[in-house]
Amino acid sequence: MIKTNFSNSKLIINKHEFNECYQRIKDELKHNYMFGWHQYLLANHDDLISEINQINTELQGYAKNMVVIGIGGSYLGSYAINEALNNGYHQEYQLIFLGQNLDSDYFNNVLAFCEENDFVLNVISKSGNTLEPSLAYELIKELMIKKYTYEGFKKRIIITTDAQEGCLRDECLKHDLKSLIINNDIGGRYSVFTSVGLLPLAFVNINIKELLLGAQAASKCYYTKDVNDAFYYALIRNNEYLNDKKVEALIVYNPYLRGLIEWYKQLFAESEGKNKKGLLPIGMVYSTDLHSLGQFVQEGTPMLFETNITFKSNNDISLKNFINNDALAYLSKYDLEDVNKIVNSSVIKAHYEIGNINNYVLALNELNEYNLAYLMTFMMYSCAYSASLLAVDPFNQPGVEVYKKEIKELL
Ligand code: PA5
Repeated sequence: MIKTNFSNSKLIINKHEFNECYQRIKDELKHNYMFGWHQYLLANHDDLISEINQINTELQGYAKNMVVIGIGGSYLGSYAINEALNNGYHQEYQLIFLGQNLDSDYFNNVLAFCEENDFVLNVISKSGNTLEPSLAYELIKELMIKKYTYEGFKKRIIITTDAQEGCLRDECLKHDLKSLIINNDIGGRYSVFTSVGLLPLAFVNINIKELLLGAQAASKCYYTKDVNDAFYYALIRNNEYLNDKKVEALIVYNPYLRGLIEWYKQLFAESEGKNKKGLLPIGMVYSTDLHSLGQFVQEGTPMLFETNITFKSNNDISLKNFINNDALAYLSKYDLEDVNKIVNSSVIKAHYEIGNINNYVLALNELNEYNLAYLMTFMMYSCAYSASLLAVDPFNQPGVEVYKKEIKELL
């Protein structure tokens, strides 16, 4: 399902060493309580899908806009998939994200939109206590009660949080609000295929059954099979790190995958960046960034390697009419996707052969629910393996907790 090209790697490992290391890391993960997402992905979720579809049928009856409040892992997965699959200028339903920043202009814009347009609300926080989403919720709640009355507010909101703990759970109990549960053993950045991501994505008519099927197929492949590209990719990343390449740049050629970059940055940074270790994950959208950061990649400080993500287009555009254009006639034998691919190959060649920047490729067929979920799940396993190779816990984020605590003290 993912065609990998790791040929630039200088990693030398024999089959025996590979298997030994893979088994050891798998064993470590198996004993980590927060690896619950692995079992979750393998399980059947037809009941959850029905529940979500039922909730959304009701919510879609009220509005075409859903405000999604959440931060970090509580929104980045749905943000990434929504950007990738519900984009362009014609989408019927849209998600409006709030609670990831505290900027007054941003808030004013969203609140003004909500005054003028109908909307429903999904508040997502596992702890139920995070400052940014809590603050956003209070402001939106006030507006909703004013606009729709208290009873109307209750019909238009769904809360996704822990089953028992946190202020959001208390809020559900106090107002008798509809809620979905976030499993205790699944952390935010590994939760995209739980109710955290599925509810908002289903609201915009993304096929969540296909998402779960793609995630499950990858899950069966990247933990249980002996030949494992996700683990190999983790080893390659680790090898780059040990060879003083401290930055991984995720490269995409489709601007609608900008959200995927944001999701990937959080996944790897929060999982690996501990004990003064870890690769810094960054991302670039080519061709756009070839005309800005591309210069640095080619000739600047040699600190990074690139991992290219490509999807095959299903809706290609023929350039055959360019034959009548003297300046561009040489393109007429191609489709648009061929040109994008040729740019991709040329960039890899220039960066690798001249710039000495290693390039890896993860190539998939068309960009759809199944394949995107498959790729994201590949990344989740690779990330867990990669952090484990650095001997850090992939599933905690003690540094983030420090800042959360500082805020509480300062306020
Ligand atoms: O990956 C994580 O666990 C974190 O990034 C959390 O998702 C983020 O801090 C938000 O936490 P919460 O959902 O408790 O508001």
